[in-house]
Amino acid sequence: MIQITLKKAVRDYTGIAPLRKELNGRIRLVLDTVSGVIYDGRAAAFLTDAVDGSVVVTTTVSFDGNVTEQFVSDLLAALLPAGWLQVTEALLEQEVVEAATADPESTEESIEPVRISTEPFSHIFDRENQIQILLSSVQAFVDSGHQSRFHSIMWGPPGCGKTETLRSIAKMLGPHHATMLDGPSTTKAGAEQLFLNADRIKPFVLVEEIEKMQPHHMLWLLQLLDERGEIRKTTAKHGHQQREARVLCIATVNDLEKFRTLMHGALSSRFAHEVFFPRPDNNTLRKIVLREIEKVGGNPAWAEPAINYCAFVENNTDPRRLVSVCLSGRDGLLDGTYLRALYTNYMLSRGSTVDAELLSKLIGEQK
Ligand SMILES: Nc1ncnc2c1ncn2[C@@H]1O[C@H](COP(=O)(O)OP(=O)(O)OP(=O)(O)O)[C@@H](O)[C@H]1O
Ligand SMILES: [Mg+2]
Repeated sequence: MIQITLKKAVRDYTGIAPLRKELNGRIRLVLDTVSGVIYDGRAAAFLTDAVDGSVVVTTTVSFDGNVTEQFVSDLLAALLPAGWLQVTEALLEQEVVEAATADPESTEESIEPVRISTEPFSHIFDRENQIQILLSSVQAFVDSGHQSRFHSIMWGPPGCGKTETLRSIAKMLGPHHATMLDGPSTTKAGAEQLFLNADRIKPFVLVEEIEKMQPHHMLWLLQLLDERGEIRKTTAKHGHQQREARVLCIATVNDLEKFRTLMHGALSSRFAHEVFFPRPDNNTLRKIVLREIEKVGGNPAWAEPAINYCAFVENNTDPRRLVSVCLSGRDGLLDGTYLRALYTNYMLSRGSTVDAELLSKLIGEQK
């Protein structure tokens, strides 16, 4: 039997999905009356429906079967990252299981300030200008105490480093400062938890493929990026909720035309910078593929035949294709066997005949 006291719990839809699976059949929650509702046996229902605001909840959790200390700490770890539950006490077979939690309010002071640096971008080539534009808006935001908010998107063809740059921005800012969202899988409820109900709003919101967010989930984002910098919600149950949320948004966009038409242009109008990422040129492609070869301890001589094949046969400058040709082909790129197989397969797939001259040129060039 485990006695858990939960404090300052608020609803969270985003954190519960993995838990629900884990809990099914293994855990039975017997809860005290919370906000006038008694829940029994459904952790998800308890967490999403019963607790709100700063209610202090004491609940007894009984487990069916053998429950290890590890399971309990995994359970607590799964609950805690969103910062909405504070477990102050947990007893497992009369032993106290220390729940490694910090009070969200007191952690504020211990969070390191944002450190703007180009170091996390050192593996990205030929994007200095784009990175400078993005980091300048981060700097302006920080220097102005979150008053100057110049939201940015990165756009451009596939495989030109947008996601890689966004990830590096996330790395530079660190998990305490940045919320990373994925456009297609972001829901209104999940976003509201992060911005309306979280103890602390992280000042940077980084969105991958923002134009793929469902329009009806996008309203909260419009509010958030608006000049006023606040998020509002009115429901019958909770009445009017409003909160200041001065965040800076940096997003990637794959389809610029779609992005511009979303919400009749209301979303794109909130973005001050549209930073263009062009296709990597040959020199950049070479650096990317050499970087990947080095990661696997391969032979740098694989790079050139792979580059030639992608350029002359497939006319494909997506680094992902190049890297897959290179790291699959390996020595077969040097003796020509892999190039022959690739080229023949490519021509067949297009209903074309093999051009013997091009093939021998491709293979011959390696020798
Ligand atoms: N300029 C670059 N410097 C270093 N690596 C790069 C660069 N451009 C692309 N890459 C590499 O190419 C791969 C694809 O890049 P990334 O995922 O960032 O593309 P993207 O622009 O987000 O593409 P998509 O539009 O398909 O989402 C990654 O492995 C990334 O490291
Ligand atoms: Mg991408």
